[in-house]
Amino acid sequence: MFVPKKLIVTGGAGFIGSNFVHWVIQNVDDVEITVLDALTYAGNLENLKGLPEDRVKFVHGNICDKGLVEELFSRADSCVHFAAETHNDNSINDPEPFVETNVRGTYVLLQAARRFNLRFHHISTDEVYGDLALDDPNKFTENTPYNPSSPYSSTKAASDMLVRAWHRTYGIMSTISNCSNNYGPRQHIEKFIPRQITNILVGIKPKLYGDGLNVRDWIHVDDHSSAVWKILTKGRIGETYLVGANGERSNKEVLRIILSLMGKSEDDFEWVRDRPGHDRRYAIDSTKLRTELHWNPTKSKFEEGLKDTISWYVDNRSLWMGQKDCVEKKYSLSE
Ligand code: NAD
Ligand code: DAU
Repeated sequence: MFVPKKLIVTGGAGFIGSNFVHWVIQNVDDVEITVLDALTYAGNLENLKGLPEDRVKFVHGNICDKGLVEELFSRADSCVHFAAETHNDNSINDPEPFVETNVRGTYVLLQAARRFNLRFHHISTDEVYGDLALDDPNKFTENTPYNPSSPYSSTKAASDMLVRAWHRTYGIMSTISNCSNNYGPRQHIEKFIPRQITNILVGIKPKLYGDGLNVRDWIHVDDHSSAVWKILTKGRIGETYLVGANGERSNKEVLRIILSLMGKSEDDFEWVRDRPGHDRRYAIDSTKLRTELHWNPTKSKFEEGLKDTISWYVDNRSLWMGQKDCVEKKYSLSE
């Protein structure tokens, strides 16, 4: 078992990274965290509010900055790497930052992990496996061949390949997890669930791409955090673990639940142009993680999780209101 004492969390001011930092502080004693985050449009220091200053330090910087990364890694024993450009729609409009952060940034971190012999956990996505047909009886497993569809998922696939090669060639102490779609508090309002919730709150109709039948496999962000901690501390070095909570739902189904929880008619939305190359379905088989590391999700009641998520956006308007016009203007150019 590995016991992290000085942990670096890249991308810790974003959605999953910040929830992970909160989760660790609430659930684990005796670990100090340094968050390294460039505060792109997706990062927000408010996401780290309320955390104890003696246990969580924030460093504003870029994972592509070799000097800074080496300085931080020289004083740490482990790194969980969340930092990435993460939104598929953005990657279609401008792939360059995705190549820079997701590929080159991961390379810079791996070189530093190699130099300072850090335990390195790489956060990846189920999208590296491409998509499944709606009626395919199979789910993704650790043995599914890589087949990414979008500029985003192809750069994440490339970063996974770097991690695997650095483990095999240089022996770095790495693991990889590929998780399905997360939901919960602190997610950027460009993403599906928070976009629809905040649309309803400001009086804009929710927007559904294509025929609305695309399926995503939803997991609460706290369950992702507990899985990452399990893998970081107990995972076998060099291994990949898939993380999922059997939460398959079509986008239309999810939107109808949100509308109904927010007291609206289930048909009160607009159809908009489909995403180019839109993946049809993701589905995760997380048997390996469950049997080998005895991980189980605890927040599997989707409607309850969504209700809490809606309340979070209602209670934290000041965190997203300033971005709403800008996000919707950007979408209006392609929809
Ligand atoms: P996010 O977009 O909410 O946050 C990304 C964070 O990374 C931001 O705080 C941003 O400022 C920071 N960042 C971006 N470029 C950086 C750089 N060059 N240097 C330092 N910091 C930088 O992302 P998220 O949804 O929280 O996703 C986190 C990770 O989890 C990503 O690696 C993503 O691929 C993966 N993932 C996400 C999901 C999901 O459903 N959101 C599912 C599976 C895997
Ligand atoms: O599967 C894991 C991935 O999940 C992560 O790797 C990505 O970082 C994360 O962004 C997410 O990717 P998706 O493309 O699945 O998420 P997004 O929230 O953009 O869209 C979810 C689904 O909802 C997708 O089928 C597109 C659809 N959609 C999205 C938006 C923003 C709509 O129908 N309407 C919308 O307004």
